[in-house]
Amino acid sequence: MRTIIAKDYEELSAKAAKVMLDVVKENPYAVLGLATGTTPLGLYAHMIADHEKHGTSYAHIRTVNLDEYKGLPKTHPQSYAYFMRKNLFDGLDIDPENTNIENGMAENETKECARYDALLEQLPRDIQLLGLGSNGHIAFNEPGTPFGSGTHVVTLAESTVKDNARLFDDISEVPRKAFTMGIRQIMQAKKILILASGANKADAVYKMVKGEVTEAVPASVLQLHPDCILIADQEAASKL
Ligand code: F6R
Repeated sequence: MRTIIAKDYEELSAKAAKVMLDVVKENPYAVLGLATGTTPLGLYAHMIADHEKHGTSYAHIRTVNLDEYKGLPKTHPQSYAYFMRKNLFDGLDIDPENTNIENGMAENETKECARYDALLEQLPRDIQLLGLGSNGHIAFNEPGTPFGSGTHVVTLAESTVKDNARLFDDISEVPRKAFTMGIRQIMQAKKILILASGANKADAVYKMVKGEVTEAVPASVLQLHPDCILIADQEAASKL
């Protein structure tokens, strides 16, 4: 894993934008694996600013997202589909038809997971963006998830529900279940870019980079990927 330490969140976002934009500029037909959460917001703002200023086009770019809460329709302001539209897609010239995410309202979980597995096979990712859970999760693959997993439905760890409660009016509103891309599929991306910001990620960053490769720390699997870049700010990298 190549580790880049940024002095602060702004520098982290600018460096992440450089990595992402290099992929988009090199291949206007690239497939981008995208993430939600607080960490990529600065990167997404840079992508929108670059599109407005330099005209980088996403007309032929396709995207697949990592995960979606179960039970939230894509019009729900806390759904990840809504998050992506609001924080990235609406600011680019991307065709909404070319953006993909699990359907949180799918009645048949097994069928929805199979649909997403098939889609991921058809759309090999040029780059997969990841955030890091404070408990070491990647996407919603919580500690203990087998490295061989495909798309599945998870019950969120209590620590994840607490971490995500800040985005809801009340912790009781945080969905307890989600669809997530599996670890096997994350590892299939040609390149992986994982971002970590803030002191609450320092333990997870340390275990991911320096710890044993173990299913108890899902992100530790990234040590085995041939082209994985970690960009961490100083607070997140403080234990390295
Ligand atoms: C989001 C996702 C999660 C987050 C992680 C970090 O699509 O899959 O794994 O990346 O929980 O979240 P933030 O960035 O909010 O700290």
